[in-house]
Amino acid sequence: MLARKADPRKGHRIVAAIALATTLSTSCAIESWSSMPEGQDAEAFPMEAHSLLPPENGERVSVGIDKQAVDSQPIAFDHSIHAGSVDSGGMAMDCQYCHSSARRSIHAGVPALEVCMNCHKMVDDSDRPELQKIKEYWAKGESPPWIKVHDLPDFVHFSHAPHVRGGVECQECHGAMETRTVAERDEDMTMLMGWCLDCNENHPSVDENYSAEAPLRRVELKDCYNCHR
Ligand code: HEC
Ligand code: HEC
Ligand code: HEC
Ligand code: HEC
Repeated sequence: MLARKADPRKGHRIVAAIALATTLSTSCAIESWSSMPEGQDAEAFPMEAHSLLPPENGERVSVGIDKQAVDSQPIAFDHSIHAGSVDSGGMAMDCQYCHSSARRSIHAGVPALEVCMNCHKMVDDSDRPELQKIKEYWAKGESPPWIKVHDLPDFVHFSHAPHVRGGVECQECHGAMETRTVAERDEDMTMLMGWCLDCNENHPSVDENYSAEAPLRRVELKDCYNCHR
């Protein structure tokens, strides 16, 4: 049973992470992780993503830097605790443990509450309202209404799958999410058309994956239809 001790949180989390890692290797976490069969239609909207709402103020946030959504999430989820390195007090969870659609779908998605509950049913939440909320949503059978931080305009087609499978790291587009307490857009990652074109033109994974055909592939990547369809 995991109980929160006041100090030192760092040590506690490492112990928790080890205990949880052991539990997870046998729990249904793994089942829900692979619940979408590999061959499933890549265009299908994954279940896990269904609760992502558009940004609260209704404005698209692909242009410029808009930090509105960050402190208005239904549960104060902290990436640094879950995905941060063990040295910095985190549990070093793999991004795709939670964003499990990224490899096979347009959407990276947010995890089903079940994934959180695999651990949180065992984490002591006395006097911890943010943790209690997880169990409240679970009891109601509802998903937390997470608010989208990144939101490209609808006329842009972007799919995670070819990028993630092609070897592009999450951090190349989202920055060091594993160090953040709140999910927000990275100031250097504009997600504007020129930024996408530059990367498609220069990313070494295209050479690695297509070798002699890389120049042809790069032409294909520049085609308007690639991103506007
Ligand atoms: C090539 C750049 C790129 C890479 C690599 C990338 N993403 Fe994304 N990600 C985006 C863009 C662009 C959006 C916004 C998509 C939209 O609004 O249609 C996004 C949106 C998201 C979202 C919001 C939900 C969704 O599915 O739209 C999550 C979560 C996410 N990414 C996580 C990840 C994770 C985890 C990885 C690594 C496994 C990753 N991303 C790799 C560019 C990228
Ligand atoms: C691998 C196990 C694991 C998973 C999966 C997991 N958590 Fe956690 N989470 C923990 C542990 C351990 C802590 C630290 C508890 C503590 O400080 O006592 C924690 C802490 C938290 C906190 C408290 C943060 C703070 O500032 O104190 C929140 C909120 C939270 N998790 C939400 C979530 C949500 C939402 C999900 C699902 C998207 C999730 N967690 C998935 C293990 C997990
Ligand atoms: C324990 C589960 C968990 C892990 C592990 C995790 N995330 Fe997340 N992630 C979430 C949840 C829940 C949200 C939605 C709440 C929020 O925005 O903070 C989210 C939101 C995001 C977003 C913003 C999506 C949007 O709305 O546009 C990005 C980008 C993202 N994660 C990337 C990553 C990357 C990269 C990693 C690995 C370094 C990672 N995540 C690891 C649970 C997780
Ligand atoms: C690699 C992906 C990619 C390719 C290829 C691409 N675009 Fe775009 N384009 C984008 C993205 C991303 C945006 C959205 C930027 C934003 O948020 O305003 C965009 C936006 C636009 C806009 C709207 C600009 C605005 O100011 O709102 C037009 C028009 C456009 N593209 C035309 C084209 C044409 C014509 C081509 C082919 C010559 C092309 N695009 C090729 C990614 C691409």
